Amino acid sequence: MTDFPSADFKNAVEKYAAPVTDPVDRERIRDVNTDPSRFYYWADEIEQYHSLSGSAVLSSGCSSGGCVQVFSERGASKAIGVEVDPALCELSKLRFQGWPGKNVQIDLYDGLTLPYEDQSVDVVSSLHVLEHTKDNRRYLSDIFRVLKPGGILFLDLPNRYYKMEQHTMYNYVHYVPKCIRDGLIAAILKLPISNTLSEGVRHRLNVLLDYHFPSPAQLIKMVESLSAEYKIEIEDALYHSPEKRRYRPHPMPYLSCRTRRYPSFRIVVRKLPNPVPAL
Ligand SMILES: C[S@@+](CC[C@H](N)C(=O)[O-])C[C@H]1O[C@@H](n2cnc3c(N)ncnc32)[C@H](O)[C@@H]1O
Repeated sequence: MTDFPSADFKNAVEKYAAPVTDPVDRERIRDVNTDPSRFYYWADEIEQYHSLSGSAVLSSGCSSGGCVQVFSERGASKAIGVEVDPALCELSKLRFQGWPGKNVQIDLYDGLTLPYEDQSVDVVSSLHVLEHTKDNRRYLSDIFRVLKPGGILFLDLPNRYYKMEQHTMYNYVHYVPKCIRDGLIAAILKLPISNTLSEGVRHRLNVLLDYHFPSPAQLIKMVESLSAEYKIEIEDALYHSPEKRRYRPHPMPYLSCRTRRYPSFRIVVRKLPNPVPAL
């Protein structure tokens, strides 16, 4: 058998990480792209709702394909990864050079219309991707289109009520409504003094720009609004890490200490199975 992962993949990850000047960030980028072990946890969580073995599993925002590898190891009949970033898509493809698992497929797309038939996959995993999409609602809607009846969307994202914004590690910046936040950041970046900001700070401010980050309540509302179009049902909704807490609507969620305690939020949405025809 050919070596796995291949030398080409390892070299490509090195090249991908090379432009990052901060050595700690560079090491982290190397690690997240070469070590897929964190996805075994996710696979176990998904299997509480739907078996991976024998299923067509789509990993949305698959990055360099670690999750696709784990779903393939768990016996997916087809393990598909889809990405919007061409460099990550290429890394994903390289990962599977010499991979003994069958039926792995990696695709690049525009982030809006998945290149798959209606009702063609059993499980969609979307792990910390929604907040990076151009249009949250359209992204979800297209996932429901490709889901088979009886299939699930397993979606995890940062909890907007958690006090720290987890891509920048700044507290409370994400509580500010997007239209105000984007205006403020754009104005700061235009000021002559912004040249004195460190590369790291400028990068974090840019990350926050054009970042669509729904709160749990907004996400639930969005999914519920799509149930008019697709026969879907929210099967689970919870705050988590390390322990889990079931979602309950709260009149003032940003002010509730409980909702602010958990860094992540998850929903599991099932497309309802077709009714069995009467004999
Ligand atoms: C924070 S990373 C998460 C990667 C991976 N899911 C994981 O858990 O390691 C977000 C990924 O989503 C991708 N992405 C952004 N918009 C997307 C979209 N509309 N559809 C699919 N992927 C998208 C980005 O290119 C990036 O690789």
